[in-house]
Amino acid sequence: MREDDSTRTTADPTWWRDAVIYQVYVRSFADGDGDGTGDLAGVRQHLPYLRDLGVDAIWFTPWYLSPLADGGYDVADYREIDPQFGTLTEAEQLIAEARDLGIRTIVDVVPNHVSAAHRWFQSALDAGPGSPERERFWFHPGKGPGGDEMPTHWVSDFQGTTWTRTTNPDGTPGEWYLHLFTPEQPDLNWNHPDVRREHEDILRFWFDRGAAGIRIDSAALLVKDATLPEVPAHPGPGEHPHVDRDEIHDIYRGWRAVAESYDEPRVLVGEVWLADRARFAQYLRPDEMHTAFNFDFMARPWDAKSLRESVQTTLDAHAPVGAPATWVLSNHDVTRPVTRYGREDSAFAFPTKRFGTPTDLAAGRRRARAAALLSAALPGSLYVYQGDELGLPEVEDLPLDVINDPMHFRSGGVDPGRDGCRVPLPWTRGGSSHGFGPDGGAHPWLPQPAGWGDLSVEAQADDDASMLSLYRRVLALRHGDPAFRGDFAWADVLPGEATSDQVLAFTRDDVLCLVNLGPAVPLPAGYDVLLASADLEQGAAGAELPTDTAAWLRRTPPGHATTTASRCCTRR
Ligand code: GLC
Repeated sequence: MREDDSTRTTADPTWWRDAVIYQVYVRSFADGDGDGTGDLAGVRQHLPYLRDLGVDAIWFTPWYLSPLADGGYDVADYREIDPQFGTLTEAEQLIAEARDLGIRTIVDVVPNHVSAAHRWFQSALDAGPGSPERERFWFHPGKGPGGDEMPTHWVSDFQGTTWTRTTNPDGTPGEWYLHLFTPEQPDLNWNHPDVRREHEDILRFWFDRGAAGIRIDSAALLVKDATLPEVPAHPGPGEHPHVDRDEIHDIYRGWRAVAESYDEPRVLVGEVWLADRARFAQYLRPDEMHTAFNFDFMARPWDAKSLRESVQTTLDAHAPVGAPATWVLSNHDVTRPVTRYGREDSAFAFPTKRFGTPTDLAAGRRRARAAALLSAALPGSLYVYQGDELGLPEVEDLPLDVINDPMHFRSGGVDPGRDGCRVPLPWTRGGSSHGFGPDGGAHPWLPQPAGWGDLSVEAQADDDASMLSLYRRVLALRHGDPAFRGDFAWADVLPGEATSDQVLAFTRDDVLCLVNLGPAVPLPAGYDVLLASADLEQGAAGAELPTDTAAWLRRTPPGHATTTASRCCTRR
């Protein structure tokens, strides 16, 4: 246990401003009971691993009762744990045990929609048109003769249409209902007071059980224009009928008040996908959310100019509202970094995901290592998606008959879907599921590819050059060195001939972070190497930072000789 673990979770009301938050996709993390699906028992077994990795909090993707039509983002009961994952008592134990190890818990709240199996939706279907039960959703008569046409042509985030027609009890075609995602995820009507009351109550339910915060799913989508217009060709700010409506902020002000009502205030983290940085920042005003995921940074290609611009626009957007930035390399929805950075087009965009994209995994892995140092050195909080610390690649050859993700099916099979980043983790070299579950247990819900054992925790734990060892060092240094809480500034003296088109260079107090995306450059004189993502090279004039490598350096105190060790991952 780290020396100061006992104090890490004591009342520091600003812990979230620079926390390291590890995302657990419960279904794929560890299977305690051997049924092939990850569960809370599995997470509890591996809490010491997360403590040793050096994380401050865990964000759990939904663990609630769910038909799992969208991996749990179709919630049937927000106050029950799905039996595949465990029980409410286990969740309470897990929150408490994590806390004892210095790790806070963030739960995922899905407010835009519920599962079609949720009691509200079931009673709305039963109660029929015009009933108060239907007012909690977006039921609407169709257009055209016989109401055969859907009320709008809004396009789903999962492709396809957003309305499904119901059938009346007498078998005739009935009203339509809105679902921005799958038909199994009907959208709630946030103009309805029951919906608002219920969610504030759900927040209290989890906060009362020790959750330190919530991640808010699809946070910009909740409010709809009740007149149901079509989406304009070029909607101006606040003009889109179902994205980022101005009225939405009132909801989060209410949630912030709930969060602030606790002695140790709880934290709101938003999933806000908005290209407009100023509109994005509005969610982070002091009486709304604390932080939101920085998808702009996550989606950027491996290109110094582009990354630099993302960092700068991120900091510029956050400054006026006083909220810290977040730095995100991936999550359960996007292509794993070692795969993405190994591609010719290394930007991330949902519409361009395709089977069979050529990938140079060695280059991708090298860049993902450098990206770990880059993201961890930036000011704000840091997210690590499970398995990225092991350098897991996207699994791109899952047999078609095991694919589970609705994104795949709704694209007509063109989009591979998101299962490739959700393959169960390897904990041990051998064993029937590489330690994901007990040996001899059921097969993991998605098959693990050949070679998975070489990427396991066991294989990497004692290997100095592994991705896991790198992550442990990165997080330990970031945690232990006060420079990483210091001011950020771009460094104006770039090494050698490098320009800002090739090298990202910035300081946090007296630590200099260099990320080289071009040919090797000489290291600047007068610095010690704290950590590097790959071996340094020896050039004519001394140590050089090779291509696709990042290093953390500290200015050498006057009168001391510099130590530019050439081996990767130097730790002092
Ligand atoms: C969010 C989640 C994603 C889910 C969607 C619908 O984007 O991250 O996994 O499918 O919302 O709830």
